[in-house]
Amino acid sequence: MNNVLAIYPGSFDPVTNGHLDLIERGARIFDRLIVGILRNFEKDPLFTLDERVEMLREVTRPWPNVEIDVFSGLLVDYAQLRGAHVILRGIRAISDYEYELQMAMMNRKLEPNVETVFMMPAEAYSYVSSRLVREIALLGRHVTGLVPPTVEQRLRAKVL
Ligand code: PNS
Repeated sequence: MNNVLAIYPGSFDPVTNGHLDLIERGARIFDRLIVGILRNFEKDPLFTLDERVEMLREVTRPWPNVEIDVFSGLLVDYAQLRGAHVILRGIRAISDYEYELQMAMMNRKLEPNVETVFMMPAEAYSYVSSRLVREIALLGRHVTGLVPPTVEQRLRAKVL
């Protein structure tokens, strides 16, 4: 199959080095990778949609085949709209597996032509999540090495 377009969906509140590691791996394997930020993200986000787009654009600049976009509604509908047949998701540990399996199976039920592909981030990021990063930063500790420097600066600005 040539010219494979994949979508890497998520909330990215904020993007972490774990996400970035997966984007790098995805950009190497797929011809084009769309990072799709979910618009109607139910939890109260720390970063606005515009801020999340801006941060992702900044940190993915080294990969010309990576595009940042925003979507709402069902992921499989968005995949169809963009003409993508692959959804990329990261699995850090067994604890991610159940939720990811359920989503992949439901997405397959909804749209059998869309395949979910799982990749593992580098071991160093196996415990990194946006939720923990937000909590640590908001409670006053540095998150150096867990997020890109621009994200760290913006987190610090939110705390001040
Ligand atoms: O970063 P997250 O929170 O793990 O990402 C979850 C995401 C955005 C992939 C998931 O919530 C999603 O696809 N939402 C869109 C709505 C949808 O398609 N729901 C049915 C999933 S089976």
